[in-house]
Amino acid sequence: MQIGSLTLEAPTVLAPLAGITNLPFRLLAREAGCALVYSEMVSAEALVRGQPNTFALLRSLPAEKPLAVQLFGSDPGRMAEAAAMVAASGADVLDINFGCAVKKVVKTGSGAALMRTPKLAQALLAAVRKAVRIPLTIKLRSGWERSAAQAFELGAIAQECGVDAVAIHPRTAVQKFSGRADWSVIAALKARLKIPVIGNGDVFCAEDAARMLSETGCDAVMVGRGAIGYPRIFAEIASRLREEPAPPEAAGERAAVMRRYAELSAACYGPQIGSQLMRHRLGWFTKGIRGGATFRKAASAIASMEEAYELIAGLERAMRA
Ligand SMILES: Cc1cc2nc3c(=O)[nH]c(=O)nc-3n(C[C@H](O)[C@H](O)[C@H](O)COP(=O)(O)O)c2cc1C
Repeated sequence: MQIGSLTLEAPTVLAPLAGITNLPFRLLAREAGCALVYSEMVSAEALVRGQPNTFALLRSLPAEKPLAVQLFGSDPGRMAEAAAMVAASGADVLDINFGCAVKKVVKTGSGAALMRTPKLAQALLAAVRKAVRIPLTIKLRSGWERSAAQAFELGAIAQECGVDAVAIHPRTAVQKFSGRADWSVIAALKARLKIPVIGNGDVFCAEDAARMLSETGCDAVMVGRGAIGYPRIFAEIASRLREEPAPPEAAGERAAVMRRYAELSAACYGPQIGSQLMRHRLGWFTKGIRGGATFRKAASAIASMEEAYELIAGLERAMRA
């Protein structure tokens, strides 16, 4: 698949997930074979104002490339300025958030609110397109409350403005995460646009990914919740698309991925912040496994990286037994 000048090795993309797709998480996804990773959403306002914590979100490493950085905002001039900062940071793709339905974001006119203001959306995309040469994508919902019509309108505007690909999560903003993603909207958008369409929503296993690709004709699948604590989903999708059986998860594999995630977190943020992050984040990898609830309770009290590694070793022994 092609996004502007960028060629993807496979039709798999890690969704932008606030509070989740930080640098260590993205590295795990790439190591599992995901072809393109998206950052957490980054506030254009905070970036332009020079907030150090926001600027830190742009940090990357060669091993995770290609990286797409997602911005949210609603002022065309500020967005163009922030876009130039993202391009200067070395990001391979810039994405604009048209889907976030969280009150804090929507009340500033950003995220899914932009789907209700097509003229502003057009001005914003034109300004951003002028500011950067790197491949540009947008991530849509199907609309604010009416399904599809707004996505079709925004998709056409994006294409006209020189956007290189459109990702769509076919739920309305009002729906948030309820109900099922309406994949027929992905197919309909794909049929209307010349630029590539990335399908998103409710891909929880390799079979779902294969079905989304064949049912909708989309160019790539974007996986969000299905990858949280289970980056292996990308390797399983790759096997499925090659029509090969995915090797079953080995006994020690889950613990090895958790240890890798802990090591990457400590390397990226230092042992103190790394261990704080592990209190909540290690639990993601233990959903649905025997002893998971006990592990998560113990993990919530982690005070050092040594404790994190000991807990993982304990879980590994239990899983092998
Ligand atoms: C915890 C969480 C955080 C999210 N953060 C973002 C975000 O920062 N930007 C964005 O465009 N979408 C965000 N989303 C939406 C996802 O990218 C994706 O569209 C949605 O989860 C549907 O895909 P899925 O069914 O594969 O999870 C978030 C979703 C979740 C569950």
